[in-house]
Amino acid sequence: MNGEKILVTAALPYANGKIHLGHLGGAYLPADIFVRYKRLTGADVLFVCGSDEHGVPITITADKEGVKPKVIIDRFHNANKEAFEKLGMDFDIYSRTSTEKHHQVAKEFFLEYHKNGLLSERKTMQFFDDKAGMFLPDRYVEGVCPNCGYESARSDECENCGALYDPNTLINPVSKITGQRPVLKETSHWYFPLEKFQERLESYIKEADEKYGWKENVLQYCRGWLKGGLRERAYTRDLDWGVAVPLENSHGKVLYVWFEAVLGYISATMQLSEERGTPDLWKEFWQNPDTKYTAFIGKDNVVFHTIIFPAMLMAWNDCHADKYILPTNVPANEFLNYESKKFSKSRGWGVELEEFLADFDPDSLRYALALSLPEARDTDFLWKDFQARHNNELSDILGNLVNRTLTFIHKNFEGKLPEPGQLNERDSEILALAAAYPAKIAELIERYRLKDATLEMMNLARATNKYFNDSEPWKTVKSDKTACGTTLYISSKLILTIAEIFSPVIPVITKRIFEFYSAKPVAWSVCGDFPLRGGLELKTPEILFKKIEDSQLEKYLSQLTPKEAAPSQPEDQEITIDDFSKVKLRTAKVLEAENVPKSEKLLKLQVEVGGVKRQIVSGIAKYYKPEELIGRMVVIVANLKPAKLMGLESRGMILAVETEEGKLDVVETAKNVKSGTIVK
Ligand code: MF3
Ligand code: ZN
Repeated sequence: MNGEKILVTAALPYANGKIHLGHLGGAYLPADIFVRYKRLTGADVLFVCGSDEHGVPITITADKEGVKPKVIIDRFHNANKEAFEKLGMDFDIYSRTSTEKHHQVAKEFFLEYHKNGLLSERKTMQFFDDKAGMFLPDRYVEGVCPNCGYESARSDECENCGALYDPNTLINPVSKITGQRPVLKETSHWYFPLEKFQERLESYIKEADEKYGWKENVLQYCRGWLKGGLRERAYTRDLDWGVAVPLENSHGKVLYVWFEAVLGYISATMQLSEERGTPDLWKEFWQNPDTKYTAFIGKDNVVFHTIIFPAMLMAWNDCHADKYILPTNVPANEFLNYESKKFSKSRGWGVELEEFLADFDPDSLRYALALSLPEARDTDFLWKDFQARHNNELSDILGNLVNRTLTFIHKNFEGKLPEPGQLNERDSEILALAAAYPAKIAELIERYRLKDATLEMMNLARATNKYFNDSEPWKTVKSDKTACGTTLYISSKLILTIAEIFSPVIPVITKRIFEFYSAKPVAWSVCGDFPLRGGLELKTPEILFKKIEDSQLEKYLSQLTPKEAAPSQPEDQEITIDDFSKVKLRTAKVLEAENVPKSEKLLKLQVEVGGVKRQIVSGIAKYYKPEELIGRMVVIVANLKPAKLMGLESRGMILAVETEEGKLDVVETAKNVKSGTIVK
């Protein structure tokens, strides 16, 4: 071991559904590639994951099926654990948050904060669903916004106009669980003062970025949260499923799932330490300032891992001599979509890992996904792409290289690896190329550029194939057998280098390649000059990859075309042409745009409408960075009555369409249209 201590966690998936390819691209595959690579470098790595087993969605699923939550979590915990194993995830532990250990750790953190006066208890009014007999979390209440009339507003904030209001004033509230009108009921909760950590979090992120180079997408999310100013967050919920609040008179209350789930990383590591009979092992990682800790997650988890979890650890560290380390890096990915649309269980869109692995090999999936990782922006899993990666790259390049080399040796050298002779220029060149590869790949992986790293891995196989072709061993076998032997020897050496550098991505196949040569991985730093002796007896080669036929994809492709026609539009109320002509739609050019302080939703825009400037406040801040909008020619309702949003005057409304993913996409016209032009 090289002494480096590396702690790696991957987001704990909810035990409320099966892992699908989107999850893999977001967090799990990158984490596993990173871990496997780090292990080859000789680092002391702990890789921790498990199921997140609390929260409202699990109780709702259980209620629907008329079973206890335990039935649901057992089902999905086991299914996901198994699917991950089949994919080759190299976890040290795959734990779960329903363990006694976890409950104990989560309670201990809460009690520490409580004891140290950090938490404050406050009464609030919250929607309660009589029929379901439960308090409703925000996203389970919908009503009409008292400010703008938007119909799917949440209990205390409107996504459309950004208004924050008293739940009392929400018009026609409806419980999404029973469809009934909920009532407001008093309850009390404990609050964690995130705002007290604002400055320290700012410097933590700044310093970690300076030292370890955080990803730009992640920094953007962090800035967004910090800029608005952090606010206290309720640490508890009214629910009977979760980690019970460890205080008297708190019956029916549990810790908010996010505040305890992140501690699952720690409790799982403690459990592992106990299972290994080294109960203090976890401290060598979590409380060792030399440990580097990487938290792999998808973009929807950023705030919890860069703000909430670090703040919780800081709060603990403030009152203890043994201090927890904070994440060194949080290389969150964006989303991987399925055939251009967001994965959706309810719409039956996507493919689960379990199903996938019943039909295809894990390495084919790992390779194809590694090349489509949503590292900087959302990407797609496309079946045709998957098939092409497997057939044209894994099979035709890597598989072919290994197969032709071994077959040639068996045919012409009785299965014994020839000794190399004098090297010619081409031989030296390819050896020099290989020698540079481990460092090159390492550099990319260390910066979490796994897509590029994977491209490079295949590039070395490409170069080696070319070397083989250019050396024409089928000719030299007759004219110069020593030269021929040299080609085969060098090709074999390269194959082993390729097997090693490729092994983090395709561990199963590369293991088989090693077996042909009765070899094992060596230290990463020396695998560019893979030790290999002439005379070695080689195993008989077998085909590594069978081509994926179109017929194998049919089952999946046929599901992509909607079976029924799209549901018809709800009956829109008809209007006359005169009604329509009352609405003045005009083009407007965006001149300036800025965020509205304390609002995650609103952007303040200055637009030009036919030479006249006006201000419009629009609820699109979540979907656009201000600077992205500048210069665009948008369409506005020009004669809308001026309104005030969060105290800011807004004169007009920008038209936007809601995409399938629920994002707002601003309607634009060609740039060469003049601003102020009527849209009809
Ligand atoms: N269960 C969450 C999700 O699937 C992730 C939890 S990550 C943890 O999005 F850190 F809180 F565990
Ligand atoms: Zn509104």
